[in-house]
Amino acid sequence: MTPIILAGGTGSRLWPKSRAALPKQFLSLTSDQTMLQETLARLDGSQAGAPIIVCNDAHRFLVAEQLRQKGIEHGGILLEPVGRNTAPAIALAALHATKAGDDPNLLVLAADHLIKDVSAFHDAIAKAEKLADQNLLVTFGIVPTQAHTGYGYINADTAVDCGLKVNEFVEKPDLNTAQAYVDSGKYFWNSGMFLFKASAYLAALQQYAPEIFSACQRAIETETADLDFIRIDKDVFASSPDDSIDYAVMEKTDKAAMVPLDAGWSDVGSWSSLWETADNKDENGNVVVGDAILQGVSNSYINAEERLISVIGLDDVVVVETKDAVMVAHKDKVQDIKSVVSQLKKEK
Ligand code: GDD
Ligand code: MG
Repeated sequence: MTPIILAGGTGSRLWPKSRAALPKQFLSLTSDQTMLQETLARLDGSQAGAPIIVCNDAHRFLVAEQLRQKGIEHGGILLEPVGRNTAPAIALAALHATKAGDDPNLLVLAADHLIKDVSAFHDAIAKAEKLADQNLLVTFGIVPTQAHTGYGYINADTAVDCGLKVNEFVEKPDLNTAQAYVDSGKYFWNSGMFLFKASAYLAALQQYAPEIFSACQRAIETETADLDFIRIDKDVFASSPDDSIDYAVMEKTDKAAMVPLDAGWSDVGSWSSLWETADNKDENGNVVVGDAILQGVSNSYINAEERLISVIGLDDVVVVETKDAVMVAHKDKVQDIKSVVSQLKKEK
């Protein structure tokens, strides 16, 4: 089994710490290791082989250095000259891994998730591998706790071997639909991790997103090796449509299966999710990173990098301070940081 680590996201909802030059997967947010290093460390003790990392060309030295720090042997660092989302990123890895005629199982992992119970995670991977061996595209399902609109939803209730057959996969439904799914008790969240044979993914991609498949095929035919790095031609790869695996393949395929995952999983997608998952809340429910003085403050997330932060008489706020930017938001509104970041990009 070959892990494919997707490390090409922008992490814009964790601005101002997460920046274009240093997105969240390369930051230490939940421990003293970076999210990428934690993702790789979590595979110790599983049956996983050397991982293939897929990232943006701009971050190649960051990735190489973070692997070197932990002495991690890898199976190649694939460099995307432009971002085309996860369906093409996984296609590059799958095509690269099958180039010499092999057909490994691929364990696709996001580089920015938190999983507290590693042994439950390994058990789920072992189950998923049995299903992947039957040419199924396996997802890992999480019992939902709220109508989150940033996730995919999976309806699965019929047993297939050690998992469940997927009846329906819906990526990022609107709030009313998400609420109806949660209320029905019949849906799981898609964790964003997948396990399948490289050939099974490529066959589905060829069927449902042939333009992505052919652009990536040409990109891998023309790949060049450069030390640890595998370079991809910009013009060829840029011709691929931009789409995620969830929309391009998982919503369409009838070969999806799901293994339930109860391992303290969370997507560290926003400041509020960092607050939610933190184990170190004080008696008022505040999480404080760095220097801060709080008076009459509750259920808040405060992160001071350079300067002292003082907050008085506020509840449910997020304050994040860095050298060149300060962000203050209501905890329920932190998803909107994305639009601040888009505005910043336009003004540049
Ligand atoms: N190499 C590469 N290239 N990686 C990418 C790219 C890209 O163009 N775009 C995103 N990634 C990486 C991100 O860094 C992250 O590790 C992972 O792929 C998933 O991308 P996100 O952009 O974070 O996806 P999402 O959170 O909106 O949705 C996915 O994850 C949810 C769970 O966290 C979907 O799979 C949802 O269905 C799922 O519920
Ligand atoms: Mg995500």
